[in-house]
Amino acid sequence: MQILSVSSLKGGVGKTSVTMGLASAALHQGVRTLVVDLDPHADTTTGLAVSRGTGTEVGKLLRDAKRADIHSHVARSGWVDLLPEGRRAEAKLDVVVGSALSAMYDRPDIRTRDMRRLKLLLDRVSGYDLVLIDCPPSLSGLTRIGWAASAGVLMVAEPSLFSVAGTERTMRAIRMFSNEYAPQLTSAGVVVNRTRADSAEHEYRLLEMERLYKDKLMIPVLEENPFWQQIQGAAYPVHQWPGDQVRDLARSFDQLLRQLV
Ligand SMILES: Nc1ncnc2c1ncn2[C@@H]1O[C@H](COP(=O)(O)OP(=O)(O)OP(=O)(O)O)[C@@H](O)[C@H]1O
Ligand SMILES: [Mg+2]
Repeated sequence: MQILSVSSLKGGVGKTSVTMGLASAALHQGVRTLVVDLDPHADTTTGLAVSRGTGTEVGKLLRDAKRADIHSHVARSGWVDLLPEGRRAEAKLDVVVGSALSAMYDRPDIRTRDMRRLKLLLDRVSGYDLVLIDCPPSLSGLTRIGWAASAGVLMVAEPSLFSVAGTERTMRAIRMFSNEYAPQLTSAGVVVNRTRADSAEHEYRLLEMERLYKDKLMIPVLEENPFWQQIQGAAYPVHQWPGDQVRDLARSFDQLLRQLV
């Protein structure tokens, strides 16, 4: 079981979008996946079309980490119902639902004991090939909880100066965190999101990222896509959305997923 945190210390660069795109690719490739929504805003839970009231919110599970069995608390993603009937039975896309309650762990001075709560829960999980943890945009308590449970951090960056600087900070933070608390933790790669082929600035930043991150820079990069917000607003998997432009985006996520699992 591959456990990955999707992170960036800078906000709004596309962590939730990348988590959802990879979850969509996983569903279509038959990769059994659990998504953990660690962001108190719970955007991933909404985007994955989880029915209201299903599943136990992650804040409660973290509080009860010693006893809780995640298997009986996950919610099923509504995306599974959109698959052709013959494929639904074996498909598996579950969600540990996000909630504002988890914010009680989002302290910069989180205790080591609390930091291990998700790891404790995931150590007892089986039946999934992939766990994706959508983290909030800071190195506060919840991101530390996610990293302590993960084998790798998938960083998301935009081709802009501030985002490149933010990714540098994230990489340093991963190294420090790994030295101090989580020797298993590595940088799984940098996904570049929202690139525009017609932008000279983006081209320049991409070259800079190639130089800085070398083989950690993941190919393909993800382009700015005018349909993304509409797809997410409809809580739809990108692989089910019609049209060539979206099909290319779905293919990009397929290629990224194959490198990660
Ligand atoms: N490739 C893209 N093309 C167009 N819009 C995009 C793309 N990626 C993300 N977006 C849009 O950008 C906004 C921010 O994306 P998202 O919520 O995934 O970022 P985030 O890093 O999870 O944010 P936060 O730090 O608040 O958790 C969303 O409205 C999303 O639809
Ligand atoms: Mg997000």
